[in-house]
Amino acid sequence: MKGVILAGGTGTRLYPLTRLVNKHLLPVGRYPMVCYGIERLRQAGITDILMVIGKQSAGLYADFFGSGENYGVKLNFRIQESAGGIAEALELAEGFITPGEKFVVLLGDNLFLDDLTPYVEKFKQQHIGARVLLKPVDDPRRYGVPVFDPNQPGLILYIEEKPKHPKSRYSVTGIYMYDYMVFSMIKDITRSARGELEITDVNNRYAEQGKLGYDILKLWWGDAGTPESLREAEVYMRGVLP
Ligand code: G1P
Repeated sequence: MKGVILAGGTGTRLYPLTRLVNKHLLPVGRYPMVCYGIERLRQAGITDILMVIGKQSAGLYADFFGSGENYGVKLNFRIQESAGGIAEALELAEGFITPGEKFVVLLGDNLFLDDLTPYVEKFKQQHIGARVLLKPVDDPRRYGVPVFDPNQPGLILYIEEKPKHPKSRYSVTGIYMYDYMVFSMIKDITRSARGELEITDVNNRYAEQGKLGYDILKLWWGDAGTPESLREAEVYMRGVLP
């Protein structure tokens, strides 16, 4: 299975630091943030990885990672020119993923302590569709929030993006697993009010067809997109990399 890490994004919530360097290269402990996602994929046996990055700091990625060899992986890069949303960034992986192949997607600012291996194994056994990983959170209103299918255990009925009145206490994390159909789903959705192709709209296409499975992360998870969450990540991720 291949992996895709989405690390475009401008990181406005971390201005002015992110004017200097791309968010996903900001330090978390002794490593740039995105190293942790690479390590989680490697740990799950996924070593063929596409990183979708912005133009900002593109040279730094090459300087730091090179081919990826020192990190036990093979890295490919694609440049995302516009800030058109997560699904738009994901579309750039078409071509890297071949028809019939399944793959794992990580948002580069999502840091977590779980080993992905058992979830990836479950997805391998799921013949078609998509799978998302969830985590209970204090304030689900900041995230995509799943509504579970009461008639079909293990499936999500639909996801609400940043709902005012969340119907569950879970966040849909930025850890997604897809079959190749995802690329036609992306072509099928339209831009949201904020002008982006939303990953939640893509996931809801799978949900409508009864093909959106889920697992719940057992250990700490956070998205390091704000100064507070970046500090929290620093504490939890200590010791994960040597
Ligand atoms: C994105 C997704 C959201 C998800 C979150 C996880 O939100 O749209 O569904 O819960 O990532 O980090 P964003 O951080 O882009 O607002």
